[in-house]
Amino acid sequence: MDLHRWLDAAVEAIRDWEAAFAPFERAPSAAVSDEEFAAAFGAFAERLRDNYPFFHPSYAGQMLKPPHPAAVVGYLAAMLINPNNHALDGGPATARMEKEVVAQLAGMFGLDTHLGHLTSSGTMANLEALYIARELHPGRGVAYSAEAHYTHSRMCAVLGMNGAPVPVDAAGRIDLDALDALLAGGTIGTVVATAGTTGLGAIDPVHEVLAIARRRGVRVHVDAAYGGFFILLAGRDDPADPAGLDAAPWRAIAGCDSVVVDPHKHGLQPYGCGAVLFRDPSVGRLYRHDSPYTYFTSDELHLGEISLECSRAGAAAAALWLTFRLLPPTPAGLGQVLAAGRRAALAWSELLLASASLELYQQPELDIVSYFPVLAGPSLSAIDHASARMLSAGMADSTDPVFLSTLRVSGAAFARRHQGVPADQDGTRILRSVLMKPEHEAYVPALHARLERLARQC
Ligand SMILES: Cc1ncc(COP(=O)(O)O)c(C=O)c1O
Repeated sequence: MDLHRWLDAAVEAIRDWEAAFAPFERAPSAAVSDEEFAAAFGAFAERLRDNYPFFHPSYAGQMLKPPHPAAVVGYLAAMLINPNNHALDGGPATARMEKEVVAQLAGMFGLDTHLGHLTSSGTMANLEALYIARELHPGRGVAYSAEAHYTHSRMCAVLGMNGAPVPVDAAGRIDLDALDALLAGGTIGTVVATAGTTGLGAIDPVHEVLAIARRRGVRVHVDAAYGGFFILLAGRDDPADPAGLDAAPWRAIAGCDSVVVDPHKHGLQPYGCGAVLFRDPSVGRLYRHDSPYTYFTSDELHLGEISLECSRAGAAAAALWLTFRLLPPTPAGLGQVLAAGRRAALAWSELLLASASLELYQQPELDIVSYFPVLAGPSLSAIDHASARMLSAGMADSTDPVFLSTLRVSGAAFARRHQGVPADQDGTRILRSVLMKPEHEAYVPALHARLERLARQC
């Protein structure tokens, strides 16, 4: 689609709608001339050049990429109205769009019933899930794997709950024996299973976590902020396509108590779009509060009545709604985008296994590839320095730049995967690439060749 054309069309559509209201005089206090704007915009555009090229496949670092053009157009059009999805009074159209996209997300996870809403981030979405956990099990703590996102220990502290990290297995997944032993103590009310860890993309065995938790009378929350949309690849057993995933952990999400997914990661959205869903709609009672200023236009549910945040961009819901019209959260829609990234990660891991200058750290489960340079005299400190040098040399190369990220791993985690490397310091940085753009699939050979050269230089 032609972004210029549809950005113009978005502005026109809103002007058209505005023209249906009586004309009025615009106040001069905030008026800006085109000449003034041109000068400010020139400086602004120059400042924005100080950025990494998230759009380009040579950016193979963090979970970052520009939104889909449809999301940009949807966001811009709605932003010109600037609805606030806190209440139907703040923006009925986008509040209803939000309910529709949340229902689509619930359908994607196979939830028969749900209550949920969008949030400004995965952090806020997880905070809400843990808040409900606290209200349902006052005085009991939250268990999560040692490789869960740091937000869980932080938010437990915010909520005054006990957070209990559980050790992980050799692939970075929650250790089920350790979890069972912890739950046997009776102090835990909710377990967080991570469907796609931030560091390595490891998938906790949600089905097994759920079975253990139910035996112990414990709730299960799934943090699928990063990995959630990969459910679209679950159980796809097309022998011609290696992108399919074991269905068991993903199917189990439908039986868990809550789930978080971030459309601003794999849902092609701009930042400001997370989501939390609860299987039991009656948890809505735990959000009850009074607002003398809002909720006056109808008795229909206002989203602010079931969320901790007040103001929230209606534009975020609009962008997601428009995107889902074109690329719905189905295997044939958005699933195709994720499948390409996963195939890229699997293909690259094959190249890394055969490489003399780079070594695969762990087999990828989703679209995150972890690796480190092969050194003549390896040690944790040497790998740490060489990884850091590759990161900065790659970015600094003005003719053929490449953008990576690093991941700090403990000495014990490293030794479980790679024996015989002297542990002369406590852990090491390795390299990590999230291949979340479908363009990465065609770019993998070039990326690998570029990084092999870089590894030999560092
Ligand atoms: C698994 C997981 N949970 C939570 C978060 C936090 O989400 P956000 O950055 O949107 O606050 C992330 C971010 O990467 C994540 O990967």
